[in-house]
Amino acid sequence: MKNTITKAVFPVAGLGTRFIPATKANPKEMLPVVDKPLIQYAAEEAEAAGVSDLVFVTGRTKRSIADHFDKAYELEAELKAAGKTELLETVQNILPPDVHCIYLRQAEARGLGHAILCAKPVVQNDAFAVLLADDLIWNENSGCIAQMAKVFEKHQCSILAVEEVPREDTSKYGIVEVEKMDGGLSRVTSIVEKPDPDKAPSNLAVVGRYILTPAIFPEIEQTGEGAGGEIQLTDAIAKLLDKEPVLAYTFEGTRYDCGSKLGYLEATVELGLKHTELGHDFATYLRGLLGV
Ligand code: G1P
Repeated sequence: MKNTITKAVFPVAGLGTRFIPATKANPKEMLPVVDKPLIQYAAEEAEAAGVSDLVFVTGRTKRSIADHFDKAYELEAELKAAGKTELLETVQNILPPDVHCIYLRQAEARGLGHAILCAKPVVQNDAFAVLLADDLIWNENSGCIAQMAKVFEKHQCSILAVEEVPREDTSKYGIVEVEKMDGGLSRVTSIVEKPDPDKAPSNLAVVGRYILTPAIFPEIEQTGEGAGGEIQLTDAIAKLLDKEPVLAYTFEGTRYDCGSKLGYLEATVELGLKHTELGHDFATYLRGLLGV
């Protein structure tokens, strides 16, 4: 096992039912926040952490994700002919030259655990990152996966990004029970997928960023259907706890739950306000709209 993280898995085969009709023919991961699709925010976060292999576990209706990271000959020729150099550079630099995309197909939507297992032939014997693109995590200086990769370099074990959520929301997340350590770190003692608030062991939720050791694969292989009839990553992590330490890491940054309409709107407004070209005018517009 390498002692750094160079591979990231992006499970992108989900149907995005919460955004129908927007996601009827378009992947939810291609929904834009201001001017970039969600999947590009996640890819850039992984690249900034030193990841060079982006492994997309994709499905039949997700071709535009592969197209997004591919060369766009016609568009590039048109932009070049029109002298739109800045836009041309944006299009050409979507993927840095030393970063590779690998696409795997998950034929049936059988759950997050199953999606991760699809990546086993590519990940093989290395620890790897997992990014769920509908959790957009913003940190201007150091992205969530970069923070976690640092923790991995020191501790060489699986790490889950966690955040406190309101009690009534525990049934939306994997929930952990922990023993506190130093520096935003805790050791996970138990984990359960989407418990009802009265049964949840805490209100500490796993968000869509993981670093996993390859020891997770045999655990997923032995995991049957769990919550929602799906093969849950959470259930495999619960079994991994008996064999290896798993850490919970309270990341620095803001998470927007772009899998929900409200979270998506919050991300759009806040990243709109931070946008270098638009921020000022957008703030003026919002102030006028709200009369403040
Ligand atoms: C998945 C995981 C869950 C985790 C969540 C984070 O759930 O199964 O444990 O807390 O992502 O976003 P989903 O949101 O896909 O239902």
